[in-house]
Amino acid sequence: MRTRLTEAFGIKHPVLCAPMALITGGRLAAAVSDAGGLGVVGGGYAGTLGGEPDLQQELVHVQGRKFGVGFITWALERAPHLLDQVLAHSPDCVFLSFGDARQFAPQIRRGGAKLICQVQSLSHVDQAIEAGADVIVAQGTEAGGHGARRSTMPFVPEVADYLARKSPATLLLAAGGIADGRGLAAALMLGADGVVVGTRFWASAEALTPTLVTDRAQHFTGDDTVRTTAIDALRGVPWPDEFSFRFINNKLASEWAHREAEAKAEFGSLAVAYADARSRQDFDVVAVVAGECIGLIHDRPNAATILDAMVKQAQALLDRGSRLDFTDGAA
Ligand SMILES: Cc1cc2nc3c(=O)[nH]c(=O)nc-3n(C[C@H](O)[C@H](O)[C@H](O)COP(=O)(O)O)c2cc1C
Repeated sequence: MRTRLTEAFGIKHPVLCAPMALITGGRLAAAVSDAGGLGVVGGGYAGTLGGEPDLQQELVHVQGRKFGVGFITWALERAPHLLDQVLAHSPDCVFLSFGDARQFAPQIRRGGAKLICQVQSLSHVDQAIEAGADVIVAQGTEAGGHGARRSTMPFVPEVADYLARKSPATLLLAAGGIADGRGLAAALMLGADGVVVGTRFWASAEALTPTLVTDRAQHFTGDDTVRTTAIDALRGVPWPDEFSFRFINNKLASEWAHREAEAKAEFGSLAVAYADARSRQDFDVVAVVAGECIGLIHDRPNAATILDAMVKQAQALLDRGSRLDFTDGAA
């Protein structure tokens, strides 16, 4: 399966592992790269959240391989020294989401890395083009973790059309709800050069996700997730208003998800209780972070198995599409 993405990065499969905060450590990123995709280590909140894994230690696992590092852009602004530390490891790309990448773009380019910007609206696309992004990731609201309001199905082709007019050399990836070969094949048909996969790799053997969490999550369906700004407000994490958080609904979210303005007025009121609940692994309070495609995930195999199955299924579907015969209804 060759696309502009596989050519540009010299990888076998058009699949990136998302830089998931607290989840995509060096072992997962290395496993995805070894299997022919591209692993992007989760630099998350750039150490500003507390409880994040030591990025330098995680980067030891990816040495000698192709890899990227991702950051939440508004958090990187609070610890900008980290970018030089990361660039010293010669990543193939830096993946920035949730904020203005323009301020970091020259440094990333000087460091010899490609710039990947994950966007949630068309206005973000303009900013990313201005930053000189090599790759734009159109993230749909189905995604696990933080995101915004657009849906993957119409957002990806809209960005594809926009880039074709404004910046045809910029590559496009789709993110949000892609967990198997059906999603990969669909994304390519929508005009993407590849995909960014989060939740599916969240439930992989190499992820930092606690086993207790993935064991519970195997029974959830896509109906069980919720997107809200309320929990970030209550726990005192200063996310910009336009971004909300998708995770598996729990007791705290049932009480608060629909009371966003009220939660904002009580910013940080549950910061201590939330940290305490995290240390006790109390999932009535602490969010288990996963996207709508959780309903497609019922196991925790290694990353290579996930990637191999995804690519094989996509190839089979795309191949069958050329014969226009879907009479057996098989996925
Ligand atoms: C547990 C989890 C943590 C995430 N953390 C980050 C992050 O730190 N930075 C980021 O850019 N995106 C993060 N994301 C979003 C991913 O980049 C990506 O857009 C998303 O996972 C794609 O949708 P999917 O989860 O349906 O595959 C996270 C997603 C999940 C599931």
